[in-house]
Amino acid sequence: MVVGIDNAVTATKSAISSAKKTPPTLSSDSVINFARGDPTIYESYWRKLGDRCSMVISGNDLMSYFSDPGNLCWFLMPELDHAIRRLHGVVGNAIADDDRFIVVGTGSTQLFHALLYAFSSPNEPEPISVVAAAPFYSSYPEETEFLRSGLYKWAGDAYSFNKDGPYIEVVTLPNNPDGAIREAVVNRKGGKLIHDLAYYWPQYTSITARADYDVMLFTFSKATGHAGSRIGWAIVKDKEIATKMVKFIELNSIGVSKESQLRAAKILGVISNDCLNSGPIKEENFFEYGQRLMSERWEKLREVVKRNGVFSLPKYSPDYCNFSGEYTDYSPAFAWLKSKEGLNCDNLLREHKIVTRGGTNFGVGSKYTRISMLSSDDEFNLLLERLSTIKGTPNGNY
Ligand SMILES: Cc1ncc(COP(=O)(O)O)c(C=O)c1O
Repeated sequence: MVVGIDNAVTATKSAISSAKKTPPTLSSDSVINFARGDPTIYESYWRKLGDRCSMVISGNDLMSYFSDPGNLCWFLMPELDHAIRRLHGVVGNAIADDDRFIVVGTGSTQLFHALLYAFSSPNEPEPISVVAAAPFYSSYPEETEFLRSGLYKWAGDAYSFNKDGPYIEVVTLPNNPDGAIREAVVNRKGGKLIHDLAYYWPQYTSITARADYDVMLFTFSKATGHAGSRIGWAIVKDKEIATKMVKFIELNSIGVSKESQLRAAKILGVISNDCLNSGPIKEENFFEYGQRLMSERWEKLREVVKRNGVFSLPKYSPDYCNFSGEYTDYSPAFAWLKSKEGLNCDNLLREHKIVTRGGTNFGVGSKYTRISMLSSDDEFNLLLERLSTIKGTPNGNY
């Protein structure tokens, strides 16, 4: 082998293995972080699938900026467009027929920014208000306020919003952080709705209907756990809104990585094939696996919370899921923990080396905190172990 190539191959291999590096081993002293919703829970499933999701990309592949010049979203790869529409058809969680526009983004985070731009107008005398019902996903206020835009501004909890004129309401369904099934709350003239359906997948909630909202956001991060690929998509009814979103992404990043799009298309395609496989050697498909794992975790967490008597968790009643054809438990991606004694829940858990995201980040009080349910098995087991050492007493102290 030519020395230069040999070095290059070794360097590439070591770059991949360092990117894949396993987290340091957890010890009884380790601080464990449950503040972020990093979906490493699914890694073992994808490892089990081996090369079925691998792809080879040559040096001369995917070089142009353009993916589909004739399409309104000219940077959307046709393979991904097809895979997204097919998967929604298979799961039955959203209408993604050909009369809807699909806009791909670098994560649904970029699409959220694109929508704030698309829904606002430079001709309005003041920035359009952006609201969400508390507790809301903690990034909405930060993302809305970050650039101090003259087009839009964060206006807080939708329940207390009473200003006249146009507004944008973000409806997260099921909700992050508390898993609640939500509807718009403001319901006034001039309102524009963003439905963030990041968690409307069978492993988290029952699929009760094909969602048919004007604008729906989905993300590869939470659907399959591939957060690192940074792929999200919007399903949009209105051509003008889709066109403005595409313009935003054009100016923001001149499109979206084609490598990531093809990887997403491949993985979504494998999931659809597995869901449709009714042959004799049918294996557990990704959503069945995810549903089983999530409900096992919830059962264990509820058991520990019940035993220690210090916290409470929201209760969900099972609903009929059109995807699985049976009544399924809700197993949200986050546990919304409440301190029974009104203590600062986040601080209390930090004393036990558990980092969570406290309620004030979500527009409510500090007696609440949010715990990710999407961590690796090792971290989750350590969480259960530590939670079980926190004990309530009859006088309410711990
Ligand atoms: C409700 C909700 N929307 C959007 C996102 C961001 O997704 P993405 O990774 O596609 O940017 C998250 C991530 O936690 C989320 O919880």
